[in-house]
This record gives sequence, structure tokens and C-alpha cells, in this order.
Amino acid sequence: MSVLVGIDVGTTGVKALAISPEGEVLERAEVGYPLSTPQAGWSEQDPNDWVDAAGAALAQLGVEPVGIGLSGQMHGLVCLDEADRVLRPAILWNDQRTGEQCTEIEERIGRERLVTLTGNRALPGFTAPKLLWLREHEPETYARIAHVMLPKDYVRWRLTGERATDVADASGTLLLDVAGRRWSSEMLAELELDPSWLPPVVESQAVTGATAAGVPVAAGAGDQAAGALGVGVDRPGPLSVVLGTSGVVFAALPGYTHDPEGRAHVFCHAVPESWHAMGVMLSAAASLAWLQGLLDAPYDVLLGDAEAVPAGAEGALFAPYLAGERTPHADPNARAALVGLTLRHGRGHVVRSVLEGVAYGLRDSLELLRSLGISADLGRISGGGARSELWARIVASVLELPLERTAVEEGAAFGAALLGGVAAGVFRDTHEAVAACVHVRETIEPEPAWTTIYRDGYERFRGLYPALASG
Ligand code: XUL
Repeated sequence: MSVLVGIDVGTTGVKALAISPEGEVLERAEVGYPLSTPQAGWSEQDPNDWVDAAGAALAQLGVEPVGIGLSGQMHGLVCLDEADRVLRPAILWNDQRTGEQCTEIEERIGRERLVTLTGNRALPGFTAPKLLWLREHEPETYARIAHVMLPKDYVRWRLTGERATDVADASGTLLLDVAGRRWSSEMLAELELDPSWLPPVVESQAVTGATAAGVPVAAGAGDQAAGALGVGVDRPGPLSVVLGTSGVVFAALPGYTHDPEGRAHVFCHAVPESWHAMGVMLSAAASLAWLQGLLDAPYDVLLGDAEAVPAGAEGALFAPYLAGERTPHADPNARAALVGLTLRHGRGHVVRSVLEGVAYGLRDSLELLRSLGISADLGRISGGGARSELWARIVASVLELPLERTAVEEGAAFGAALLGGVAAGVFRDTHEAVAACVHVRETIEPEPAWTTIYRDGYERFRGLYPALASG
């Protein structure tokens, strides 16, 4: 049998999957690594940890694949010198240090022109503002840059010796002409960045070298585009709703379009000649992980407490801006809040308010996509947080959308494996891969008794941000 492997270089670890050409999971492996926060709002990782973890995960799978696909956390800045040495820890997607550089980029280029050139606004998680930050704050490191890469592309380079990136992941650099699916020479010139630092950019299913054992490696995609393929969002239809470390509402588009204000991200999809729009909240499952660390109790106990509390948590309300926010509030310094407490509120209320507050944040992104003319009547949910039945039901009820769960939960690694299958010639194209491998397992319907409560809750939620904005 032809075995396909997908590797997702995530924020908390590498997830690897081996699948059959029918989409059955044969083996799974997961290897974690640390994240460092040298200053408030900063978020860094050692690129060599990703390589070690990917190697260990591949070894754990113990398979001989015919094709491998890569996926990973997006936007991270990896800088190498002329001798291909890593120059400093990677600055990650959820790092918020570049607020000033984003303002500078929008002032220098003009927001409207920037959106015309790249499809997007300058947001602190994106890669280009990180390069400007480095130029200003670490000029000696900056002067030694010879290569700039995204996280999974560094792993590719170490795995195959080939430098490459894909259009979907490259869309999050702010250096891609998203409409034209090529690096933007205008952006590089405006920001005075050296084009020779960037790897060739190709479609997600393209072959980008092979492993030492001769296995072809697909270009792959950023985790959101790969994750969308993994839940079968390869063309306009159901939305992809992700409850991972970050929270995402993602729609495949019928063609390239952009919002002149750049409120939603518009990126290339991992399917040729196709694009997607999405809203990204920075702390989704990360909010629950934070609370779990604070309360120091197992997740199932906390979720059980939350289930025993009525919808709406008797007025307790959580604003999930623990790491600032991206969509819909492009505000790196926004703060989180827990409000509406009384003496009656206990642990279950607080946990439930966090689950609900994250769902309201996703609703913000859904409303934004709708305001761009995207119609939505069904979602496909994935991500670690979606394993909680309660949380998935809360999200379905807040979004007022039925949410389908697919048979395989590891969306991004699974989508990467599908791309590996296209690269290896097992599938003719991505649509064939999705049709063969993605199977819907169950549908979570909104709870009618909760939806009215959540409509009120969402109105109150929308009132919180102005008090939490940075300025
Ligand atoms: C997408 C984004 C996050 C990370 C998480 O724009 O920043 O989803 O890719 O891994």
C-alpha cells in the first residue's frame, strides 16, 4: 500500500501522521518542544527543536512513505547566515513586539496601497514587520542575514536540502503579491529588503526535493490552509472553524478578492488558482490552557464543572485577549478580562465563561467574513479544543451553525499528507485527494435553548473591547 505522511510543525510540538490513500490513519506521533517568552508579548522558539522533533516523529511513525507533505505554524521568522547557521531564535506568529513597525509600514506605503499590493494589512504576527524590528533592534544580526524562512520551510531545508516555500504560507509574510501568487518586488523595494533572502515560492502540491531516502516532499502549506484541506474545505462551501492554540474561521473563496480595509486575512489557498479569507484570534485553546495552568486541575474536571453551569455562566463573561488580538481588533496590546462576577460564581462559571468568550471571538470573525459577502451555513470544526464535546456545542450555538466533525482530527498534518499524496502522484489533484480521504463523522447542531442566551451574551461581549483596547 502507498503510505503518505503529513508533518505539522506546530506551536506546541510536531504532529506527524501516516495515512493510507483512503484517508485511514495508520500511525500517529507527536513530539513537543518549549516556547520562550523573553519579554512580555514576545514569543520565540529554537528552529533546531523543530528539526529534532520532526526527525523523532518521523522515526516514531516507522513507515516508508511514498510522499511527505509539510505544514506548520505560519508567519514565524527564521534567519540564517551565509553558512546556513540559525542567527537567533525564531520570532513566532503570536509575538507582539512589532506594533511600531506595522504602523511604520502602513504609513510608508499607505494602508490602501498595502492592501492592493498584498491583500492584507500589516499585523504584528506577520513576517515583514519582524524583519524591520530586527533591522532596528538587532542590527548586527540583521547585517548577517543571508536567508529568511518560515518555520516548516526550515524543516524542509534540513530534510531535503532544498530551499522553497508555498504560496499559502508565503501569503502571511506581507511580502507576497497574493493576487499574483509571486513575491512582491514592490513590497521588497518599499521596505528595502533583499529579494535574494527569499526562497522560490511554488504551489502547495509541487515537489520540493526529496529526503535522503528519496521520498518526494510536497511544498505543503501554512497550518490554516493545510488544516482546511484536512477537513475538506478545498473549495467554497463549508467554513473551516479551528479551535487550536489560535482560533480561526476560514472560507475558501470563489476567486481573488480583497477587503480595502484589510480586516480579514486574504491568502492564497493550498489549491492552485484559489484563495481564502480568514479571521484569526490569537488565544483560543491557549485561553483554556492558561486557565488550566492557573487552576491546576485536569481538563476533564474543569470541563465537567463548566458543563454543570448554565449557558451564559450566569453573567460571567471573558474577553480572550491574553496575547493581544489580531481579528477583528488589530491590537497587539489589548488585554483580556473576566467580568460580571458575583459571590455566587465558582470555578465552573469561570471555565464556562472562557469557553464562551473564545466562541464569541470566533463569532466576531464569522461576522466579518459575512460582511465581505461570504455566505456561511455550515462549518467543519477541528483543533485540540474541538475534542471537548461541550466546547464544540458552545461554538456551534454561538455561531448558530451546524458544525461537522471529520473522521481525522489532526487537520493540518492530515492536509499536509494529502498534499504529499498529490506530489507523489497518488492523487491527480487536491480535490481528488479530499474526495478520497476526508469523511464526515458527525454533526454538532446548535442547542436551541442556548442560542438566545448567546445572542445576548455576544452583544455584551462586543461591549468589552473598548475598555480593553491599548489606546
Ligand atoms: C494564522 C496564524 C496561526 C498560526 C498558528 O494566520 O497565525 O493560526 O499559524 O499555528
